[in-house]
Amino acid sequence: MQLKDNSYQIQGLDVSAICQEFGTPLYVYDSEKIIEKIGQLRAAFPDVDLKIKYAAKALTNLSVLALMRQHGVELDVVSPQELKLGLLAGYDASQITFTPSGVSFHEIEEAVAAGSIINLDNLVVLEKFGQRYGNTVACSIRIKPNVAAGGNAKIMTAHDGSKFGIDVRQKDDILRIVEKYDLKVVGLHQHTGSDIKDANAYTEVARIIFELALLFKDLTFIDLGGGFKVSYRDGDEIADLPRLGKLLSASFLAMCQQYGRPLQLWFEPGKFLVSECGHLFVTTNVVKQNPTRTFVGVDSGLNHLIRPMMYDSYHHIVNVSNTDESQKQVYDVVGYICETDTFAKDRELNLVCEGDILAFKNAGAYGFTMSSQYNSRFRPAEVMVHQGEAHLVRERETMEDILRNQILIFD
Ligand code: LLP
Repeated sequence: MQLKDNSYQIQGLDVSAICQEFGTPLYVYDSEKIIEKIGQLRAAFPDVDLKIKYAAKALTNLSVLALMRQHGVELDVVSPQELKLGLLAGYDASQITFTPSGVSFHEIEEAVAAGSIINLDNLVVLEKFGQRYGNTVACSIRIKPNVAAGGNAKIMTAHDGSKFGIDVRQKDDILRIVEKYDLKVVGLHQHTGSDIKDANAYTEVARIIFELALLFKDLTFIDLGGGFKVSYRDGDEIADLPRLGKLLSASFLAMCQQYGRPLQLWFEPGKFLVSECGHLFVTTNVVKQNPTRTFVGVDSGLNHLIRPMMYDSYHHIVNVSNTDESQKQVYDVVGYICETDTFAKDRELNLVCEGDILAFKNAGAYGFTMSSQYNSRFRPAEVMVHQGEAHLVRERETMEDILRNQILIFD
């Protein structure tokens, strides 16, 4: 999104007109931004055989998945349902990795039957996989390197005590099971967490995984997960990709040399690819003056964007309807849910009036996908702006969606 002619625009379209056409609350995605981010990631790793596996959970709209596919990005999924969405978006199952955590073996069988590769995340499932498939189906193993990194405790996944992956200290158990069933382990996987800005976290994890890799003879790839931090507010320190690319490529290539043949390096970013492309547009229902604070109440809430409430995360907010910078005021921007769903506290905005449209920036990742029908409200519509045109890519929910599957058993 950029300011042009003093109005907020996406690919040259005035967002007020988009909101008028499709209504609010509304998620809008900028396809060019996604394409730009894919390019940035590739540019950081020019010397290695890089594969990008988009972590679909960040934003599963079919048109987003299909755009990724068109631009050579494959998928990482965490449920059979995400896998099906990937197939519907035109992926071949072989391009989709299944990285579940603590799921029933039935789900793993389902993904194997579809033709996906699985990141096995505990010893029990590794043993079951061996019993069921032996060396007939290739697999990958999710390792927990015991490195603590990420924006906050809720989004860290690789520290000592995390439920994810097989603890690297259990490597002898892994090797015993691999040998027992002659497992064909073609990949090692790890995902450290989300919002990681510290290159040292990646290099430390890489050191651990690369060392382990030398113990597996059938590898074709190493998957270092996602987690690259993006900028949610001006001045945010973010993952320095060009530097990270240089550091990791060097150690990866050195490991490949030791390993004896070239391997692929995989990443599974979610936020990095889709956070910045997304905006949640809401309308101001009320400007409520209290003796101590001024609240801006909008037609949305934690049911549509839960990140501020769940992680205390910051989303930049812009008053799209008032571009006059000369009259600013400090507000608490709050939702309409019957809970304290504060999007932003003490936020300075251009003067807000009833009916003004506000934009929450960086709302593409974990925005719509974490939305709910709480308070029996509809999930928003989604629009993708592509080649200068706004396309509806998901309809707003209706009462039918809220009633779907309900069974009334009393008169
Ligand atoms: N790979 C695996 C195995 C993951 O579990 C995740 C995210 C990713 C990749 C992508 O991570 P990313 O590049 O998006 O940071 N809802 C939270 C983030 C939870 C991330 C869960 N796993 C938030 O909104 O901050």
